[in-house]
Amino acid sequence: MHIDLTGKVALVTGAGRGIGRNIADTLAQEGARTVVTDVRQADLDDVTQEFAHNGWEGRQYLCDVRDFARITDVVAEVVDTYGRIDVLVNNAGVGPGGPVEALSEEAWDMNLDVNLKGTFLMCKAVVPVMKRQRSGRILNAASFAAIVPSIGSAAYAASKAGVHYFTRVLAGEVGPWGITVNCYAPGMLPTDINDFAQSPPERQQRLLDTLTIRHWGRKEDVSNLLCFLASDLAGYITGTLIDVSGGKLATQIPRVAYDRAAAEGAYEFE
Ligand SMILES: NC(=O)c1ccc[n+]([C@@H]2O[C@H](COP(=O)([O-])OP(=O)(O)OC[C@H]3O[C@@H](n4cnc5c(N)ncnc54)[C@H](O)[C@@H]3O)[C@@H](O)[C@H]2O)c1
Repeated sequence: MHIDLTGKVALVTGAGRGIGRNIADTLAQEGARTVVTDVRQADLDDVTQEFAHNGWEGRQYLCDVRDFARITDVVAEVVDTYGRIDVLVNNAGVGPGGPVEALSEEAWDMNLDVNLKGTFLMCKAVVPVMKRQRSGRILNAASFAAIVPSIGSAAYAASKAGVHYFTRVLAGEVGPWGITVNCYAPGMLPTDINDFAQSPPERQQRLLDTLTIRHWGRKEDVSNLLCFLASDLAGYITGTLIDVSGGKLATQIPRVAYDRAAAEGAYEFE
């Protein structure tokens, strides 16, 4: 099997850093002309430099996914430049949290506006382009939080659960045009959005205890999945949430298997 994205045009939101940046790099490496957007200009400049260094074709746009006027301008410019948009990755996300009684309205709105409404606005602008092409791939960042949320993540979890169901409905609406829409649940992957790898060792162990594959996620775990989903090979997959979180959603207490493996001498806890 050969995943080849040559000739495709991909747009990745929130691609200045973190998972989104790795997704953009990987799509470009596989031959896609990749457009990166973010709200942080310095990060965008950094990505552009990396693209130039590697000889990859692409463009960058400062674009807040909450700003529909700016989104429509960016989409129009991308279509002017490349003539099409084959892949849209709605990766941009935020996660300010806290217990419900202490959660500010601002934090609630931020989660819902960026994670859920931002995904909606990007799709609203790009779907007409994909309909004209009679093809397209839309990939939305959900989260394991959409299925098993953490305490203190009400706003984030609600937004990601919203992304999951938004994905299903949109997939149904655009199927006749050859467009597929899926979402994915990364994790637990240390980036600037979380403090997994900075937390005290006991908390880290507690978090790792929830994983079937007992180590932090890597950005390439997500990017590899997305390259496949973006390709022509994935045309029969739509309307689903794909878990790429080391089996966090698989069983209740995966630690039991590691204790057993340790008793058999097959595993050592660090
Ligand atoms: N890291 C994980 O373990 C994990 C787990 C589940 C889901 N996710 C999701 O994956 C996605 C990427 O997260 P990450 O871990 O790389 O975090 P990150 O904070 O490193 O990256 C998020 C990116 O989104 C950008 N962004 C924020 N607000 C924006 C806005 N209004 N408009 C445009 N861009 C904006 C940021 O500037 C940043 O570049 C997010 O949607 C996140 O919810 C991550």
